[in-house]
Amino acid sequence: MKILVAYISKTGTTEEIARRIGEILGAKGAEKNIDVEVAPIDGIGSVRGYDRLILGSPVNGMKVLPQFKEFLGAKVAGSNVPADIFIVSYLFERGRKVWKKAIRKDLEKIRTLAGASSAEIFAGRLPGPLPAFARFIFGTPKDLPLDMRDWGKIEAWAEGIAERM
Ligand SMILES: Cc1cc2nc3c(=O)[nH]c(=O)nc-3n(C[C@H](O)[C@H](O)[C@H](O)COP(=O)(O)O)c2cc1C
Repeated sequence: MKILVAYISKTGTTEEIARRIGEILGAKGAEKNIDVEVAPIDGIGSVRGYDRLILGSPVNGMKVLPQFKEFLGAKVAGSNVPADIFIVSYLFERGRKVWKKAIRKDLEKIRTLAGASSAEIFAGRLPGPLPAFARFIFGTPKDLPLDMRDWGKIEAWAEGIAERM
């Protein structure tokens, strides 16, 4: 069985999450003869030949990156390869409700586009502190850590996928 963990990442956060998911699937899948590949989406010609896809993108402007959506539409939709999606958002847990709603709406849209069986939202990381006006617009507190990733949640999600295979 071949699994592809494919990601797009601007500042490395989603890439690190994808690699961790790949490690977990590799470790859990060893006895089930599961072969795991982790790669950026721009190097993937076709998803045919894989038995399952785990696909990840950061959220920018309350949406996944446009290249990710294009990838889903062009290469995943209609491929009949089962897929799970994760997106990485700094604001989803801690920002204003209006942003949470917008992110969830975009996720549902891309989940449908890809025909994905599950879609998860992980907290992300910022490269530097937000200026006060941005904190006001987004509704985030001043003392929020730059790296909000919850590795326990990420690992549990990957373990759940491995168990279902
Ligand atoms: C230019 C830019 C725009 C962003 N816009 C959003 C956003 O609209 N909503 C959100 O929740 N996070 C936003 N973020 C935060 C990141 O998406 C998130 O923290 C993620 O970890 C970044 O992933 P990456 O390192 O793989 O690119 C933004 C970050 C940057 C740099």
